[in-house]
Amino acid sequence: HRKLKAFPAGFLWGAASAAYQVEGAWDADGKGPSVWDVFAKLPGKTFQGSNGDVAVDHYHRFAEDVALMAEMGLKAYRFSVSWPRIFPQGRGEPNEAGLAFYEHLIDTLIAHHIEPVLTLYHWDMPQALQDEYGGWEDRRIIADFEHYCVTLFQRFAGKVKYWVSLNEQNYNLTNAYQLGTHPPAVEDRKRFFAANHIAFLANASVIATFRRHVPNGLIGPSFAYSPAYPGSSAPADMLAFENAEELTNHWWLDTYCFGRYPQAALTWLTETGEAPDILPGDLEILSQGLPDFVGVNYYQTLTYTGNALDGVTLQRINTTGQKGTTPASGIPGLYKTMANPFVETSNWDWAIDPTGLRIALRRLASRYALPVMITENGLGEFDQLVAGDRVHDDYRIAYLKAHVEACQQAISDGVQLLGYCAWSFTDILSWLNGYQKRYGFVYVDRDERDTRDLRRIRKDSFHWYKKVIASNGEIL
Ligand code: BG6
Repeated sequence: HRKLKAFPAGFLWGAASAAYQVEGAWDADGKGPSVWDVFAKLPGKTFQGSNGDVAVDHYHRFAEDVALMAEMGLKAYRFSVSWPRIFPQGRGEPNEAGLAFYEHLIDTLIAHHIEPVLTLYHWDMPQALQDEYGGWEDRRIIADFEHYCVTLFQRFAGKVKYWVSLNEQNYNLTNAYQLGTHPPAVEDRKRFFAANHIAFLANASVIATFRRHVPNGLIGPSFAYSPAYPGSSAPADMLAFENAEELTNHWWLDTYCFGRYPQAALTWLTETGEAPDILPGDLEILSQGLPDFVGVNYYQTLTYTGNALDGVTLQRINTTGQKGTTPASGIPGLYKTMANPFVETSNWDWAIDPTGLRIALRRLASRYALPVMITENGLGEFDQLVAGDRVHDDYRIAYLKAHVEACQQAISDGVQLLGYCAWSFTDILSWLNGYQKRYGFVYVDRDERDTRDLRRIRKDSFHWYKKVIASNGEIL
């Protein structure tokens, strides 16, 4: 029986959120609209028309939420800053009320010995920049994003050590420009790869600038990492797995960490005419903005086959909460997803695979030789509030326990793991799935249409995680 290494001293036991999913106060104190404020109100875009106008009202209740974090013993809280709260028009002079909100939040966290982990961009682009030049589709975004980030670097350099640049560029832009399910709801692969390239340039530019402003800080992007598995050892499945790994994972991770695109994928996209325009100087920008750590948002592995690839389309979103409703997806000629018969799935068909997390961490550590921070990991499920204000989420405890165990295995394998941020602290708005898909340690009493009293209720998982933290991962 293998003796596992203990979690290191100072391990960041955390939880995470994102501005649009928790804050509410969508037009308070000078905030401008984000693309989500507009998009979520278009008919048919989100589950039962749910939106983040009120969300869980963290903007007004952050002190209560931080008090709950302190009671739990949380060591780190990852949150995102809403760009249009700081720059209502995307650029120009900052809105002091917006900066003051985050300063209060950060100061309250620090007063409770909770390390702030600040995400610069979690999908809420200022609508003004989307309208003016199409957001990520225009290189003007690079300077505007940098101006916004430098404003935060200057204000919070002395208080915030850990920074996340872009959250899930891969998942967000795939939805925004290929699947048409996030704003601006485009379905065009060429435009997708072009916008994605500009986002890479913005990410790298900001990381290079960060070094000058926050010399003692650490920064990295958060990647939505679904490690690929082959459906079998048949060579066609192995090739499909390699294709998927390169086009769905290495396309981002190699570019972030090596400053270059993976070759086979780039060749294929050049042949199809969908490769991004790489201008002189771009590769220098990419290679001068390498991260200090890789942020990983891990929820599931995906399994790929090379069989019957004709006619397959890239669409794998289940917003129903009904098992077995997610269609196969992929790229004709390259790869197609298939159900993995060896793993259980959630009600949204997400594979529950803690070993996949260990594999993910090891692949990252070996390929990129960088520390890793788990910036999200959790289980979205229907929760029931029962008599006596209790939520018995034993399924969530089982999920988190198995994944924390996988972290310890990975640490024992030699991975340098900085922290583990569960998704999420309180319940949040799941972008496309409304409030019914809950992730939190803390239940928030509201549903899609009725904000009720937004009361905070500790779930069973709250008490479980408190013990995990207190024992530094020895009692799971
Ligand atoms: C990630 C995001 O995609 O996963 C979060 O960074 C999101 O913002 C989480 O909430 C879970 O996804 P979903 O679709 O279940 O809300």
